[in-house]
Amino acid sequence: MRLLFVDSCISQRGDQSRTRALANAFLETFLETHPGAQVERVALEQMNLQPFDERMLNERAALAKAGDFRAPVFDLARQFREADAVLVAAPFWDLSFPAMLRIYIEHISVVGLTYHYDAEGCHGDCRAATLTYLTSGGDAEQAESLGILHWKQLSSMFGIPRFDDVFASGLDLDPGKAEELVAAACRRASRLAEAL
Ligand SMILES: Cc1cc2nc3c(=O)[nH]c(=O)nc-3n(C[C@H](O)[C@H](O)[C@H](O)COP(=O)(O)O)c2cc1C
Repeated sequence: MRLLFVDSCISQRGDQSRTRALANAFLETFLETHPGAQVERVALEQMNLQPFDERMLNERAALAKAGDFRAPVFDLARQFREADAVLVAAPFWDLSFPAMLRIYIEHISVVGLTYHYDAEGCHGDCRAATLTYLTSGGDAEQAESLGILHWKQLSSMFGIPRFDDVFASGLDLDPGKAEELVAAACRRASRLAEAL
């Protein structure tokens, strides 16, 4: 099994990042319980991805029209399409997630590669059976947390049938409780990894 880890854990906390703790818990359990599985990490902080502008869109559309999906501009979309399972980890920022992750979404959302349209609507073309979204936030969780909803709907658009999330929430409300909240969320992340 090939797990794609979309690492968007930007943090000022370094090793103490709560989002990173969730990702580590998931990955450790995943590797323990899936011998022989591979984890492919997309290290967004090191990639300097550019948001699409008109020129980039035109170039990409011309390549897609010619059917040349092997061009480098499609590398991330092809990688995403081929993964057996996807893990996305990102802190809860400004009611969703860091802009860097939004730019990654632009790069993987390619009509004709990761999804397509027909008369009945939009159909996903990705291979993954599951997408797991891990996040941590300072405030209490809202019923419809935008970052989680965004990835839930993307999973559906990409044709990924199962979506799970873990939100370690309320971490900045009472500093004395943060450690136990993170530990409980890590246990939830581990259980999801085991069940993959
Ligand atoms: C730029 C920025 C924006 C944030 N926006 C929100 C927010 O909208 N809602 C919220 O509950 N917490 C927000 N927070 C708090 C973080 O979500 C919280 O501290 C989280 O646990 C950070 O994860 P980390 O420990 O991995 O850095 C924000 C923090 C930063 C740095």
